[in-house]
Amino acid sequence: MTTQNFLGKENYNISSETVSESCPSNIALIKYWGKYKDQIPANPSISYTLNHCKTNTTVEFFANEPFSVQTFLAGNEEHKFAEKIEKYFRSIEQYLPWILKGKYIIKTENTFPHSSGIASSASGFGAIAKCLISLDETFSGKTSEEESLKKASFLARLGSGSACRSLYNGLVVWGESDEVEGSSDLFAVKFSDGEIHSVFKNFNDWVLLIHEGVKSVSSTVGHGLMNTNPYAERRFQEARENFVPMKEILKSGDMNAFIKLVEHEALTLHAMMMMSDPAFILMKTGTLEVISKIWDFRRETSLPLFFTLDAGANVHLLFPNDGSEDKIKTFIESELLQHTQKNGVVKDVMKF
Ligand code: PMV
Repeated sequence: MTTQNFLGKENYNISSETVSESCPSNIALIKYWGKYKDQIPANPSISYTLNHCKTNTTVEFFANEPFSVQTFLAGNEEHKFAEKIEKYFRSIEQYLPWILKGKYIIKTENTFPHSSGIASSASGFGAIAKCLISLDETFSGKTSEEESLKKASFLARLGSGSACRSLYNGLVVWGESDEVEGSSDLFAVKFSDGEIHSVFKNFNDWVLLIHEGVKSVSSTVGHGLMNTNPYAERRFQEARENFVPMKEILKSGDMNAFIKLVEHEALTLHAMMMMSDPAFILMKTGTLEVISKIWDFRRETSLPLFFTLDAGANVHLLFPNDGSEDKIKTFIESELLQHTQKNGVVKDVMKF
């Protein structure tokens, strides 16, 4: 597939500007793991956009200065991040012809702990992409809100794939799926709120920080390992197929089927890493202890507490605000928190 250049504009007037934008993180239910050239996902994915975990970014653009990027994270200068952004800006010049024609000072801060392993690349690239679209529209004219978000999602994808889903709230799909009208490999689309049962519109995501600090494998390396994984094609096919039950579940409100599917997706992602060469085990002892306790708790109480995982050891605890949440919260505090490194938990919610 060729990448369509829908951002290309010929007439623009650049000037020094400062723009600020905010973007939340997201957590995938059907996972994206494996990609092709130009950040084309090997399978479609669907995620919840979080409400509280966000990145706030200010971009100061100094027009007609030699191209350079300086970045600050929570007030501290970050050279590695600046290198990453510089490379990213160079890679998107074909879409934003003005992008290398100035100097940047980028100040960014997360509303969640940096070491938590919560996808700061998703909210981070989402916020930067929004800033770039805001600058682009200042230089070459405004488009509709819908068009701006689509362009920001397209640009965010080129920074970090999963970031493209953070531009919309609620449930968001990225990657072509026969089950989702308008879905694309190039940008994310909102999964229609009208097709979602109310029980899935008010959900908690409490992230247990089992292991704080740098992950043992970066997502770039992780995606790359899928290229040689003998099970990869079957996995991509399964993710595509999982959109069929997912769509039905979201409509009907079948919580048990939702739990089974979401946990299966998380465990599959980790299984793929275990079957890679070299192999990686991303879970820690605490991860397994928490999963085992969640399964016991569900067997004993039938309450809807379940988990998903990113490519790391931390556990995203998912549970609806359906009247059962007080008992679940008490259980988390008394039984699960002890498996974190420093009593670390980030409490977020998905409400739409
Ligand atoms: O966007 P990336 O390249 O950091 O990949 C993220 C992949 C997962 O978070 C593990 C799954 C997903 O779909 O978000």
